[in-house]
Amino acid sequence: MKDKTVVLGVTGSIAAYKAADLCSKLVQQSVSVRVVMTDSASKLVTPATFLAISRNPVITTLWELPEWQPKHIALSDEADLLLIAPCTANFIGKLASGIADDALSTLAVSYSGPTIIAPAMNPKMWSHPAVKRNVETLLGQGVILVGPDRGRVACGEDGTGRMADVQDIIETCRKTLGQSPATQK
Ligand SMILES: Cc1cc2nc3c(=O)[nH]c(=O)nc-3n(C[C@H](O)[C@H](O)[C@H](O)COP(=O)(O)O)c2cc1C
Repeated sequence: MKDKTVVLGVTGSIAAYKAADLCSKLVQQSVSVRVVMTDSASKLVTPATFLAISRNPVITTLWELPEWQPKHIALSDEADLLLIAPCTANFIGKLASGIADDALSTLAVSYSGPTIIAPAMNPKMWSHPAVKRNVETLLGQGVILVGPDRGRVACGEDGTGRMADVQDIIETCRKTLGQSPATQK
């Protein structure tokens, strides 16, 4: 994965704190990590955490335009992989519908390379028919799913909804980048 550029999308799940560890482990493997956070994610973990760990600016809004080229478009061109971890039920729905109403969803819609999502949510949310349908849509679009795992979720319930282990997510990134034509870059 050395010298690859991974856009790490962080959405508003309580598992967002685990994305800091994921970011750190990717950086340790010489991956260039560019973090894009939703508003909800920024309420759970501060962008400064990801700035410090990734050593790159963190994008939290579409509307900071210091340069002529919007950052989300520049990043969608640079990325070898879009990894959304954790990925909320809401964001799964947005991805499945092509909604582009914030920096991360707009980047996702302007990006055509490999995409991995690591859903994290309450088990009742994960088993909701609308979420299941949206996940099927994403799988049909070629999006790669890692997890969610079974176990105890933050609200204390047992069931399927925990974000996959960081190591499993990294392994999925390694495999995906190994197969991707982007490795020829
Ligand atoms: C403390 C807290 C924890 C949350 N955890 C989750 C979660 O694990 N998964 C999820 O899908 N939504 C979770 N939510 C709800 C989302 O934050 C909410 O649906 C939000 O609109 C998601 O926005 P985003 O997808 O743009 O990040 C949580 C909300 C709060 C207040």
